[in-house]
Amino acid sequence: MIADNIFILTGAGISAESGLATFRDADGLWEGYPVMEVASIQAYDRNPARVLEFYNLRRAQQLNAKPNRAHVALAQLEAHWRAHGGSVTICTQNVDSLHEQAGSTRVIHMHGEINKARCHDCGDVTLADGDLSPALGCAACGRIGGMRPHIVWFGETPLEMDAIYDALATADLFVSIGTSGAVYPAAGFVSAVRRAGAPTMEMNLEPSENAEAFDLARYGKAGDVVPEWVTDMIKLSALR
Ligand code: OAD
Repeated sequence: MIADNIFILTGAGISAESGLATFRDADGLWEGYPVMEVASIQAYDRNPARVLEFYNLRRAQQLNAKPNRAHVALAQLEAHWRAHGGSVTICTQNVDSLHEQAGSTRVIHMHGEINKARCHDCGDVTLADGDLSPALGCAACGRIGGMRPHIVWFGETPLEMDAIYDALATADLFVSIGTSGAVYPAAGFVSAVRRAGAPTMEMNLEPSENAEAFDLARYGKAGDVVPEWVTDMIKLSALR
């Protein structure tokens, strides 16, 4: 195979064509909201209802979103690679479940998942499709008022970092899709893989903030460039 273990980092740009707003584009989420007032533990402690409302709106939007051609193509790539003894790991910064809905099975949500709630007191994580409110109690410990979105806020450590670094260590191709490269540690993964000698590529609407760190790039909408790339990869793998 041209690469046995492919590591794919995705960001908000891959879900843009599913109707979900990115963070830093014009009309992006962070343009309409002061980040630290909706995405920090300090904001939640000050005004939990406001923070929960921000995420209730996002959850409601995401419930109706459907995977687009880019999500579907990545699921096809994973199925093809698995059938030929390889692996495709998706590490997403997105809190939507569009990769899973498209059929991807190895998905790491490093910034959490919008359809889950976590008890701030005991840490229990549960599925939560509906609105969260300060009146909710935790099913595990019974405490009222601590059910927050299972989302990584500014100042908090991303989730599953051990699993991510394990997958990066065995990656022989690193691909970044639809992310601005503005947020660490995700923005630093490309350098870690490059130091280990694996090729790197980005696919984005425009060069990202760390575009110079990539060996290759394909620019355009994810719904166009990702299926084209997957078709090329499957063709190339047949030649070997
Ligand atoms: P950003 O909003 O920072 O970047 C989205 C990128 O996607 C930009 O570079 C756009 O040019 C690109 N883009 C937009 N539409 C696209 C399309 N149709 N096809 C391909 N690319 C497109 O989003 P992220 O990089 O994901 O963290 O942001 C990283 C983190 O910052 C998020 O996970 C979030 C935020 O703060 C947390 O909430 C913890």
